Amino acid sequence: EKCKFIQVQSPEEGAEQFYQLLKEELENDRLQVLGLATGSTMIPVYKKLTESALDFSNVTTFNLDEYVGLTASSPNSYAYFMNDHLFSKKKFKDTNIPNGVAPDLDAECTRYERALQDAKLDIQLLGVGENGHIAFNEPGTPADSVTHVATLTDSTLGVNSQYFENDEKIPETALTMGIASILSAKKLVLLAFGEKKRPALMKVLEGKVDQDWTITYLLEHDDVIIITDLDLK
Ligand code: GLP
Repeated sequence: EKCKFIQVQSPEEGAEQFYQLLKEELENDRLQVLGLATGSTMIPVYKKLTESALDFSNVTTFNLDEYVGLTASSPNSYAYFMNDHLFSKKKFKDTNIPNGVAPDLDAECTRYERALQDAKLDIQLLGVGENGHIAFNEPGTPADSVTHVATLTDSTLGVNSQYFENDEKIPETALTMGIASILSAKKLVLLAFGEKKRPALMKVLEGKVDQDWTITYLLEHDDVIIITDLDLK
């Protein structure tokens, strides 16, 4: 099997599994560069990591994506989320998030992709959108995509706007690692909890790469772990 599934009973148990995996990689000196994700799925994960004794002071991080137009001071930005849930509580060597307010967004994408490729991701953590997107690689995104400006679909705008605070309107575009950027990581770990994620995981189980379900690009990588509370049999 190309993607290894681990079934857990709860998001907390999923977070525990991810913690154990990171611990082992750190102990074996295999973790210098860690790709991080945002979304409600990651809250128990970062809670577990901040409550642990793991030492990340030699680890550099790269986040998957950021909304265009939001700064770290907006509670709806991914930079804010990361500071709130992880970076304010654990010390890292360095942290990187695409700059959603860069004056030249294309130049920012090029800069980010180069930094990423220079650093080389050891592990990339992933969630999945209800429409099967990873990071903000919406349906139809090609396999060779690198960090780019993505236009969000109505589905994603609808789902993600539920979390928006202070009457701020959800941006319709975002900076995101591409599929090739994500697949360049040595190891990929995707977490998916709850029934709304079942269609996306079923597409992976079907075993065929489908551009309209970008999660299925994971089938092209040979070290993927999917942690879920869904019974997929
Ligand atoms: C956003 C992020 C994705 C994330 C998805 C799922 O769209 N760009 O990286 O996987 O949300 O979010 P949640 O964990 O809240 O279901």
